[in-house]
Amino acid sequence: MKALVLSGGAGTRLRPITHTRAKQLVPVANKPILFYGLEAIASAGIREVGIVVGETAAEVEAAVGDGSAFGLEVTYVQQDVPLGLAHAVLIARDFLGGDEFVMYLGDNLLQQDLSELVRRFEAERAKAVSPRLGEDPVVPAAQILLAHVDDPQRFGVAELDAAGRVVRLVEKPEVPPSDLALAGIYLFDHRIHEAVSSIKPSARGELEITDAIQWLVDAGQVVLAEILQGWWIDTGKLTPLLEANRLLLEGIERRIEGQVEDSELEGRVIVEEGARVVRSHVRGPAIIGAGSEVADSFIGPFSAIGRGCVIRHSEVEHSVLCGTSRVIDAGRIEDSLLGYDVEVTRSARRPRATRLMVGDHCQVDLS
Ligand code: TTP
Repeated sequence: MKALVLSGGAGTRLRPITHTRAKQLVPVANKPILFYGLEAIASAGIREVGIVVGETAAEVEAAVGDGSAFGLEVTYVQQDVPLGLAHAVLIARDFLGGDEFVMYLGDNLLQQDLSELVRRFEAERAKAVSPRLGEDPVVPAAQILLAHVDDPQRFGVAELDAAGRVVRLVEKPEVPPSDLALAGIYLFDHRIHEAVSSIKPSARGELEITDAIQWLVDAGQVVLAEILQGWWIDTGKLTPLLEANRLLLEGIERRIEGQVEDSELEGRVIVEEGARVVRSHVRGPAIIGAGSEVADSFIGPFSAIGRGCVIRHSEVEHSVLCGTSRVIDAGRIEDSLLGYDVEVTRSARRPRATRLMVGDHCQVDLS
């Protein structure tokens, strides 16, 4: 069993962060999103991982290296244009060979243990099942992971038969056949290669993985479905990214390695090495990253302050600061994502005004 992790893409829904950075490397609870997936793959016992990279290849390669820090052997697969999830499989053919593999979307986070899903696929394949009553048993070609959602219109949606196997997949349906959305984790065997090379690009010009899976079903193959346990988040937009940060911070334990003076730290707070908290109040769960300074400030629940930030005379709550940003006399900041090297300050200049220098696709919500 190998893994194929998709870490290319355009990331249009997380602009402006993704103008300069890989969205898979945005930190949640002070760790890049991609690392959670790689750790899950390693703990499922998988060693050989192909990472599909696009424009941000250099950044992903610098962060992950040869994978040895995760106990993995990583091969990079360059995708020059993000032509779809099935296209990523198509170009990874040499790496994948004839092996079974887990396909993992690099911006997705999963609470459930990946090893259970892998073991179940292997067990079902060992059994071999009949596609329909009276037909010869076949080895399942794929297994998809489904989650109940409130807004299936926004997702790829699956229709299952009485035995819980996939009969139909539809991408963003106006009238959804169920509330079961495809989560970004799939298991395939070699037969997916014929599927991805047989399908045509969709209306949005991409080779869709839903079309490739539908192709398998139409060719009489068995596609199994697992209903997800626990939470699953596609972090590709601001609100789910903050939600992922919140869920992961829920799980932290108190750890104070930095310096704390005249401050109150309430509940599960992490102050990383070299960080300094002075005359401040930190209400957990929250993390203050290595080398950051928090002075005369309030850091509220579900805040992840990255490395090397400076926060003075300000309040921050339910926000992610990626790192090396300065937030000074800024009032109260909530529900926000700040990239790297961001400066939010209050100026004494007259006339009093909000002065901005923000790039394309930024959002500024004034109080
Ligand atoms: P998406 O979030 O579906 O697509 P995207 O990254 O292009 O984002 P947006 O819609 O905001 O423009 O991609 C899911 C994951 O798969 C993500 O980690 C990026 C990756 N991906 C590739 O590696 N190659 C591709 O061709 C596509 C479409 C996505």
